[in-house]
Amino acid sequence: TTPVSSNVVWHQATVTRQRRELQNAHRGAIIWFTGLSGSGKSTLAHAVEEALHQKGCRTFVLDGDNVRHGLCGDLGFSDAGRVENIRRVGEVAKLFMEAGIIVLTAFISPYRADRERVRSMVKEGDFIEIYCDTPIEVCESRDVKGLYKKARAGQIKEFTGISSPYEAPEMPELALNTGTTDLQVCVNQVIDDLMRVGITG
Ligand code: PPS
Repeated sequence: TTPVSSNVVWHQATVTRQRRELQNAHRGAIIWFTGLSGSGKSTLAHAVEEALHQKGCRTFVLDGDNVRHGLCGDLGFSDAGRVENIRRVGEVAKLFMEAGIIVLTAFISPYRADRERVRSMVKEGDFIEIYCDTPIEVCESRDVKGLYKKARAGQIKEFTGISSPYEAPEMPELALNTGTTDLQVCVNQVIDDLMRVGITG
C-alpha cells in the first residue's frame, strides 16, 4: 500500500536547528524520563527544567498527565494506546528539539521498543534516557493519586507494575532512585550529565 505521506514533500526551513542552537547558546535535546507511576518522573523533570531555565536555557516539559488531556486525549492504557501515546510524544519531542529547545518528557513509557524507536529517530547524543529507578514499594507507599490502591482493588485495569508490564531500560544514560536520593542531588546529577555531554555549558 502507498503511504499516506508519499505525495508530501519535505520543506526545508532556512532558520535551521543549528542557527537556533547558536542563538540559544545550547543544544536542543530530548531528556526522556521513564519509570513507574509515582517514581518521580514529573517532579524531577520540572525540577531539572527549573535549574536549566535559571541557567538561561530554553526548555519545555511534556508530561503524561497533561498530554493525555489534549494531544493524546483519545488514547487509553491498553498496549496499543500506550504505544501510540509514546509515538506521538516522540514526534512532538523531536519537533521541540529541532526548535532548539531542551525538551523533558515525563511518561511511564513502559515498553523498551517504544523508547528505542524515539532514540533511533534522532542523532546519537540527542536522546538522553533517565530511568527513575524507584522500587514499586516506594511508589506504592507514596500513592500520591491513590491509583495503586484502586489498581489493587481491581478498579483500574492494566495498571503499570501491577497488571501491566514495565520494561526497565538496559542502558539508560542515567538511573536515579528518588526513594533514596534527595531531589536536589538527582537534579544536580542530571545537570552534570547534560554539561558533560555538551548539551549545555
Ligand atoms: S504511558 O504508559 O507512558 O502511556 O503512560 P503516561 O502517558 O505516562 O500516563 C501515566 C499517568 O496516567 C495515570 N494512569 C495510569 N498509569 C498507568 N497505568 C494505568 N492503567 C493508568 N491509568 C491512569 C497515572 O496518573 C500516570 O501518572 P504518573 O505521573 O506516571 O504517576
